[in-house]
Formats: sequence, C-alpha cells, structure tokens
Amino acid sequence: MMTKEYITELKHRGNGNIANLVAAQRDVGSINFILENLGQLPNDFHADFLYNLLNHQHSQVRLNAVKNIGKLNRKSDTNSLVILYQKETDTSVKREIVSSIGRQRKPTNKSLLFDFLEDEDPKIVCQAIRGLLVFENDKDVEEHLKPLVNHPNEMVRTVIYKEYFAKEQTKKDTLPHAETYDFLKNVVVNADVLEVLKSVPDDSVHLTFTSPPYYNARDYSIYPSYQAYLEFLEKVFKETHRITKEGRFLIVNTSPIIIPRVSRSHSSKRYPIPFDLHPYLVKNGWEFIDDIVWLKPEYSVKNRVGGFHQHRKPLGYKPNSITEYLMVYRKSTEKLLDWNIRSYDYKTVEESKVADGYETTNVWKIDPCFDKVHSAIFPVELCKRVIQYYSYKGDLVFDPFGGSGTVGRTAKSLDRLFFLTEQEPKYFEYMQSKTKSKNIFNERKTQFLTLELFKNSIK
Ligand SMILES: C[S@@+](CC[C@H](N)C(=O)[O-])C[C@H]1O[C@@H](n2cnc3c(N)ncnc32)[C@H](O)[C@@H]1O
Repeated sequence: MMTKEYITELKHRGNGNIANLVAAQRDVGSINFILENLGQLPNDFHADFLYNLLNHQHSQVRLNAVKNIGKLNRKSDTNSLVILYQKETDTSVKREIVSSIGRQRKPTNKSLLFDFLEDEDPKIVCQAIRGLLVFENDKDVEEHLKPLVNHPNEMVRTVIYKEYFAKEQTKKDTLPHAETYDFLKNVVVNADVLEVLKSVPDDSVHLTFTSPPYYNARDYSIYPSYQAYLEFLEKVFKETHRITKEGRFLIVNTSPIIIPRVSRSHSSKRYPIPFDLHPYLVKNGWEFIDDIVWLKPEYSVKNRVGGFHQHRKPLGYKPNSITEYLMVYRKSTEKLLDWNIRSYDYKTVEESKVADGYETTNVWKIDPCFDKVHSAIFPVELCKRVIQYYSYKGDLVFDPFGGSGTVGRTAKSLDRLFFLTEQEPKYFEYMQSKTKSKNIFNERKTQFLTLELFKNSIK
C-alpha cells in the first residue's frame, strides 16, 4: 500500500522515482495522494512530470501540480504557470497559480502580480496583493495597491485600507481603552438623546444596549413618517458610533411592528424595522456580527392567528409573533477582538468571565416583562445576558432610550457603570422613584440630571 513514508523515501532516493510512481497510477485519487504528500522538495528534484501534469484533465491534479511547482522556486516555473493561468477555467487552480507565483517572492514577478490585480475574481486579487505586500516600502507596489482602496469588492478594500490608511487615521484615544470619563459614570439625563450626545466625547462608551421607540406603535413617540423615524434612528446610532470605543459593541432590540388599519376598508400595515434599520447602521460604520432571536411564550403575545383559525383560508394566514431581534454590531475596526480583551488587566478579565450555564444558541427563550408605568420594558434576564456577554466589569454601558432604566440597574448589579438618556419626564421620574424605593443605584451615587446640569458637569 502506498503510504506517506514510502513517498518520502522515494522522493529522497531521487532519479525520477516519484515521476515513475505517478506515471504508474491508474486513478486520479492516487495521483493526488502522491502530490499532496510530497512535502518540501529537494533542490535536485526531477520536476518535469509536474509540468506535464499542468495539462491533466482533472482540476485537482492541476492544482496539486501548481502547488508543488510553487515550492521549486525556479525562474522557468513562472512561465509555465502563466501559460496555464491564461487558459485555466477553474478558479481554485487560478488562485493557486497566483499564490505560487507570489510565494516565490521574486522582484521580477512584480509586473505579473500587478496584472493579476485586474482579475475579476476578488480572491485572486487578494492573493496578488498578498504576494506584493512582501515587497515592503516599494514605491511601485504602493502606487499599484493604494488605489484599490476604492475596489468594488469589500474584502479587497478592507485589506488595502488596513495596510495603507488605517495607520494614518488612528486617532489618539485620550483615555486608556478600559476607562471612561467620570462625568458619564452612573448618570441619567432627562433630554432628547441627540441633544445630550452633542456633549459626549468620542470613544467613551464600551457597550450600547437599547430598545428604540417602536415607530408610532406606542404612545411615547410620534414621527411624521416611517422615513423620518428611520432617519432619526440613523442620527442616534451614528452619534452612538462616534462615542463608542474602538471595536466595541452595539446591540439593538427591535421587531417588525404593526400599525392598525384606519378603518375596515383599509389594511393594517406592518413595518420591518430591524431589516430597514440595518443598512443605516452598516453605512455608518457598524459591522454586523450576529442576530439573536428573543423567543417569548405564545400566551404572552397578542393573538393574531384567531381569524385564520376560524376561516382557514390561504392568504389570510397571520402567525402570532413570538420573537424580537437583538441585532449585534461592532464598531468597525482593523483590530481583532484580542486587542480589546488585552486592554483589561488580569483581574478584570478573570472576574468578568462568563459562568457555566450561559446561552449557547442565538435563540434566547425569555419571558417578557410587564410594568404598570412603562409599556415596553426589558426583562432583567435579557439585559443580564447582553451585559455579561458583551462587556467587562467596570465598563460603561449606554442606553440612549433609557425608559424605566432596566439597563442601568442591571449594569450596576453586574459591577458595570451606566449612562442613560430618557426624554420623557414621566419615565425619568419613574426611574428616580425606582431608585429611591429599592435603593438600587446605591454604591456610586446615580445622578439624575437635566440637560443643563449635565452640560455644567462636564465643564
Ligand atoms: C422601548 S422604550 C425603552 C424601554 C427600556 N428598554 C426599559 O427597559 O425600560 C423607548 C424609550 O425611548 C424614549 N425616547 C424616545 N425618543 C427619545 C429621544 N429622542 N431621546 C431620549 N429618549 C427617547 C421613550 O420615552 C421610551 O421610554
């Protein structure tokens, strides 16, 4: 039986032994097995058979031949690879050709790699970029690569941005990543969030978790149109992006809503808020990370299926909506999550670790919460999970639409700090009353401020 050891032994014996072994094979699988187990090739390796295999009818054989030719690092190799590239139809083989040429690191291959930048397959363009980036501080390479920051493909744009532009743009964070400003710690401001955010510095918040108003479905919000509503949320989340620290998270709880019909001769209208909001978030620098579904028990939601239950006529089907979304975004950055995590000291990381029993799926079964004053409050369990999974102890958690203050109270109970805004005096006062009665915001005193007082606190 042919083994890896046997192939290695033949390879070192030299004299075209591998070529003979390949020629003796009847099936493609065995040829591939040999080619995939060749490992490093000695300088005197008889490689002619590899060039013949570039014309093999099976693309996997061609691909493996290219890979091995790439290991040879000989001048003549490039020509046969380029000839194959020009007639090759299999994109994996084409990518391997570009990768092999790139791995040779020969300055004479630069012009070839420049040509590959024109390929319509973005993966080939990325391979060519990889091959070119080894020529550090090379003006010619820089001139060819920098314009690709406007390439139609997002992967290509990201690589080029990271290489040439991110470093230039990195602003100096005035505070260490794990810290924030004293005037934001455990503060609730009674005002329009957009007014408040004008006074909040860049890069000051570690996590935002919020449930925005449900367009005009509840009493506390009246927007002239759905478009005006989306544009308002765009402004809020654009500002939230500015005040969020690099690479940190925004979690938005929304769901499609229904605005009841005007009369029996009209239909009610459903608005898919999460889906319509998403493009505005991405456009403003939020990178989509995850969609978490909050699943409620059926008895807890409005019964919509009743009519259908009676008539059973197709087209009239209206399921009970027992889910809401938690859309998870990260402030776009070239830095990996490791960079964020390394900003915390050992003790904080250890103490913030999530205990066993955490949720392993993106479907979170949690009962909703009902409140006599506020019609749409977060269940504490929902806040707990978000805060524990997406922040460290001592972090500042922001809720632009504070409501009854669930995010603040939960953040506090988990040794985080909070910053909330709430426009309605009724809910602001409710938050205060909850604080007094239960003494929940007790350790670091919570400050309930008007916009004026908040502005003064910054000076
Ligand atoms: C869905 S509720 C949030 C409830 C909150 N998650 C809780 O657990 O109590 C949305 C809140 O946003 C507030 N709000 C609406 N527009 C606002 C604005 N422009 N600035 C600040 N708060 C606003 C509303 O008054 C409402 O209390």
